Amino acid sequence: MSEILRIRDLAIDFNTSEGIVSAVRGVDLKISEGEVLGLVGESGCGKSVTSLAVMGLLPKPEGVLKSGQIIFENKNLTAFREEEWQKIRGNEISMIFQEPMTALNPVLTIGDQLGEVLQVHKGIRLGSKENIDICVENLIKVGIPRPQQVLNEYPHQFSGGMRQRIMIAMALSCDPKLIIADEPTTALDVTIQAQILDLLRELKETMKTSILFITHDLGVIHEMADRVMVMYAGKIVEEGPTKELFANPSHPYTQGLMHSRPGKVKKGDPLYCIPGMVPSGRQQIIGCAFEPRCQYSFRPCKTICPLLEFNEKGHGYACHLSKEGGIANVGKAVNISN
Ligand SMILES: Nc1ncnc2c1ncn2[C@@H]1O[C@H](COP(=O)(O)OP(=O)(O)O)[C@@H](O)[C@H]1O
Ligand SMILES: [Mg+2]
Repeated sequence: MSEILRIRDLAIDFNTSEGIVSAVRGVDLKISEGEVLGLVGESGCGKSVTSLAVMGLLPKPEGVLKSGQIIFENKNLTAFREEEWQKIRGNEISMIFQEPMTALNPVLTIGDQLGEVLQVHKGIRLGSKENIDICVENLIKVGIPRPQQVLNEYPHQFSGGMRQRIMIAMALSCDPKLIIADEPTTALDVTIQAQILDLLRELKETMKTSILFITHDLGVIHEMADRVMVMYAGKIVEEGPTKELFANPSHPYTQGLMHSRPGKVKKGDPLYCIPGMVPSGRQQIIGCAFEPRCQYSFRPCKTICPLLEFNEKGHGYACHLSKEGGIANVGKAVNISN
């Protein structure tokens, strides 16, 4: 499968009044045509900042691209000027956010908003029959009933789930090659969440669009992604094909996330929580960023940053324990010999 997006050694800092925050600390990532790549990790790990960089939407001037390349279809986006970004954004790459209300304009009708995307990117005049026909078609694709009428209505007239469907219709408007979905179901209740995931899966099958699917929820990743990347403190700590990674989660952080899934506990038992917190990005990290929270921490972890090392199945994780045969082999013995 040909490659659609490639990120190399991406590092992003924020210059804040309280000092520099290192949000992304050297990420490599690749998405193939028609592939759904799941990016998962707790809140504050750098998932959204990574996706904003791909869209050329890092907040200016505080967000600084410290290093790296973002290659989309052989174009180096990191060298792009704003005018060039505008041609790509919403056209070849589009985005679905957690809260559709922030992306939809409350004072414009759905028809105007959907139609405008087509006018800006495809030159299909707003209000023309062709424009309206395509808008209706896109609303049908995302399962919106009575699409003709919906075109004349305003965002506040819809429920959260319906608004997210409208956002998806908008994201699909220009047949993008890549959709970035950042926590697209997090704000929705469970039943609606399942419906939106079904819709995204269906669209993936029919349209063969590549999707970068971002969530803190491993359950959602399991359902959606072909391949998974686990992000912690601005770095990828584990990566692999979904089935393989879920069968053999190998990084202590991934294992912690797996244990903390609500479905994993018996009714009445407390939910497992990884002890400690994600580092703020202000402190300098020398060794493994997960070390302070890791029950398997041993000698090299505080001072040497472990590298992602892959096996023949394309599954890799960045942990010094891999040299000792992994957690299963070493278990708590490492702690004792520490
Ligand atoms: N505009 C900003 N200014 C300063 N720090 C920011 C800004 N946006 C994000 N960050 C910091 O970058 C880190 C990563 O954030 P984010 O990518 O939003 O995490 P995630 O999406 O994984 O929850 C966090 O430490 C966050 O506080
Ligand atoms: Mg986020």
